Amino acid sequence: MDTTDSRSADSQLSPQRVRIDLAERSYDILIGAGLLGREDSYEGLPAGGTAVIVTNTVVAPLYLDRLTATLSRRHTRVLHVVLPDGEAHKDWQTLQLIFDALLASACDRKTVLYALGGGVIGDMTGFAAASYMRGVPFVQVPTTLLAQVDSSVGGKTAINHPQGKNMIGAFYQPLRVICDLETLQTLPDRELSAGLAEVIKYGPIADMAFLAWIEDHIDALVRRDPVALAQAVKRSCEIKALVVGQDERESGLRAILNFGHTFGHAIEAGMGYGAWLHGEAVGCGMVMAARLSEALGRVDSRFVSRLRSLVERAGLPCVAPVLDPDDNAGRWLSLMRVDKKAEAGEIRFVVIDPPGRAVMCPAPDATVARVIAASSHA
Ligand code: NAD
Ligand code: GLY
Repeated sequence: MDTTDSRSADSQLSPQRVRIDLAERSYDILIGAGLLGREDSYEGLPAGGTAVIVTNTVVAPLYLDRLTATLSRRHTRVLHVVLPDGEAHKDWQTLQLIFDALLASACDRKTVLYALGGGVIGDMTGFAAASYMRGVPFVQVPTTLLAQVDSSVGGKTAINHPQGKNMIGAFYQPLRVICDLETLQTLPDRELSAGLAEVIKYGPIADMAFLAWIEDHIDALVRRDPVALAQAVKRSCEIKALVVGQDERESGLRAILNFGHTFGHAIEAGMGYGAWLHGEAVGCGMVMAARLSEALGRVDSRFVSRLRSLVERAGLPCVAPVLDPDDNAGRWLSLMRVDKKAEAGEIRFVVIDPPGRAVMCPAPDATVARVIAASSHA
């Protein structure tokens, strides 16, 4: 991490490009202010034919006109699919609305889908693109911090099942990711904090210099300083691109990107999708995973305190919710056994060993239960 960037604020805000290297599925992530309305952001993407912008009722009034205006100069027709907002709608019924609209408008195989929104829209549009007519091209236009630093990059697409998060989906890469940093200025504070959880994640798993940089800049990030946000998005995307470039379909290494997610997904499913934001659950989940790393002798208590303090400064919850007053640990464990990383019913956790590196390992139920109990009070 370049922590002593001496370039001017203007040059740090000029568009940046991060390449994700996946042979014939390689693509660029563009990062900059105002990219949504700039024609050069779309150069080289398929033109002519139909573009379908998939978005939701919150994002549409903010950015749909701007994207439509730019795409109208490239495509013969630009259609809109406006979905209900929120994690609770990341399901079959809502996905079906996309297919209904594509078929009703006779969209062919050359139709390009544009996902305009946060991770929910990106994941659902990507899954629709992967499966409509067995695959049509799509572009990610992420408008939340979480989507810009994580979900729009790497080709994981999915919907939720009542029994588990992101259980139905496909690996399907976009043609490009266009991160317009200006869109982050309209994000609710709680959503900005949720995105910071995924930014923080990259430090412990891959780059302790980045963790130190985040600690130094967390106040600037929380107040949405454009230069700090640009650097955070760029470094996060660089780390994610490196990991995904080595393990696109998560046969091993990519699982480290799920640091905090095993606990986090249990919170989301256990509390009901949408009650905790994904990033909030990941923030709390990372503190729990750090505690587990300590319990397994992989890190010391200073590391746990350091991470917890940063997660708190980002405005994220650190106290684990009670998922079942009668058998809390039992409920947590049963939810975590549905995690995609579980093998033959054995939960596999991402633990830090040592700080800056992550590994996968199982843990005894009794140890996990102690971590849950220790995390359930302030
Ligand atoms: P989200 O998509 O629900 O967006 C959060 C909220 O912000 C929504 O209400 C949305 O409408 C609103 N919003 C979006 N952009 C806005 C803007 N610019 N201004 C104002 N409001 C705006 O949530 P999210 O945090 O972006 O994404 C979470 C989802 O991403 C989860 O479903 C999670 O599973 C998924 N995810 C996927 C991956 C992956 O690799 N595919 C990685 C991480 C998370
Ligand atoms: N967010 C985890 C991954 O993309 O693998």
